[in-house]
Amino acid sequence: MEKNKVLEQLKENKQQRLIDILNKVDEETRNKIIEQLSEINLKEIERLYENIKEVEDVDVGELKPVKSVNPDRISKEELDEYERLGANVIKNNKFAVVIMAGGEGTRLGFNGPKGTYRVDVEPKPKYLFEIMADSILRANKKYGVTIPWYIMTSSKNNDQIVNFMEEHNYFGYPKEYVGFFEQGELPLITEDGQLILDEDYKIRKAADGNGSVFKSMYERGVIEELKEKGIEWVYIGQIDNILLKMVDTLLLGVAIKEGSEIATRSMLKEFPRERMGTLCLKNGKVKVIEYSEIPEDMIEAKNEDGEMLFGESNVTCNLFSLKAIEEISQRDLPYHKAHKAYGYMDENCKMVEAKDPNAYKFEYFIFDAYEFFNQISVLRGKREEDFAPIKNKEGVQSPETAIKLYNNYWRKHRDERV
Ligand code: UTP
Repeated sequence: MEKNKVLEQLKENKQQRLIDILNKVDEETRNKIIEQLSEINLKEIERLYENIKEVEDVDVGELKPVKSVNPDRISKEELDEYERLGANVIKNNKFAVVIMAGGEGTRLGFNGPKGTYRVDVEPKPKYLFEIMADSILRANKKYGVTIPWYIMTSSKNNDQIVNFMEEHNYFGYPKEYVGFFEQGELPLITEDGQLILDEDYKIRKAADGNGSVFKSMYERGVIEELKEKGIEWVYIGQIDNILLKMVDTLLLGVAIKEGSEIATRSMLKEFPRERMGTLCLKNGKVKVIEYSEIPEDMIEAKNEDGEMLFGESNVTCNLFSLKAIEEISQRDLPYHKAHKAYGYMDENCKMVEAKDPNAYKFEYFIFDAYEFFNQISVLRGKREEDFAPIKNKEGVQSPETAIKLYNNYWRKHRDERV
């Protein structure tokens, strides 16, 4: 793109700061910026800016509790049927897993991709990627198959992750069954809608959230690849839950039996105001909302079994049919914005440090995809069996709490180790 055309477009998009910078830098730098701009959809920037000004929808209109299958409250026959249906899918090589590992892991504060973080579990320390590999390998052995395993990375951590897996020989996972794909990015935008340059004249961008997984699978050819392999179901999980069981036959069975394209494992909240996304029915559709969006008079309400009416919470354990993934990949998910402090280059090409939030980062969330489907199956999981997340450096959901849960679980299930 030539300079004048770029300036014209920037003017249309009210990117005054960038125009000032372009007018001040030498030709080489100018070309470097222009080259990056040609890859940016300025219309999208406008949509992002519009989003900043929008007030998030807090309409609670038709809020109802979600129905879930609780394995402790169904008959042995039903459980066996779910298991059988799920196991059939695995045994017939129709199942694949995706681990989302593109996050920045800021709260953990570890210098590197979260998957390369090592936890001091019994009987020997393990990396998070190693724990995931073990979990799928166990299922491979049980069902006599090799499940295709994909890892979603970001442009920031892709090379590190690929090299790490290579160095560790894929933790014993057959290399030809492991695939990597990079997720997308969205530019950061200041409160007045300006793009941000860093000290190297690079437009600052950030990974576009875990909901990027659908579009990224499409754009990187993963959906096509899975189709060619005859895959029908894909479990999409997060890297930081060290009790995650992606080869979830029960969840598969429930989805198939109920005729759903999506199924999710939930956990019961420990107390009504626990900071976890709440699964509920909003205007008849499954949705994840903040506990603070539940009306005060409903938040403590209980059902006839004495359980919290709005206790079912989201822990990002999701199963999708490949058909559903393809459909979602062609639709636009809403943006979620986070107000943060980002250093930026001012109109005189000087770097300015930001102490207070001055700009927005945008993300897509995986659960927003529920919106496109009339029915989603929910299966109740157990914290002590399924949920040991590592989010924070200390306190709740930290390595310390997760290791405890992991060790307790594996002391009880010693015979299932690989
Ligand atoms: P979180 O939302 O907990 O974010 O990710 P995070 O990046 O790991 O940690 P913080 O918030 O910066 O502290 C949930 C899951 O989604 C993945 C993460 O890698 C994790 O498995 N994720 C998140 C992505 O793959 N891409 C993203 O852009 C964001």
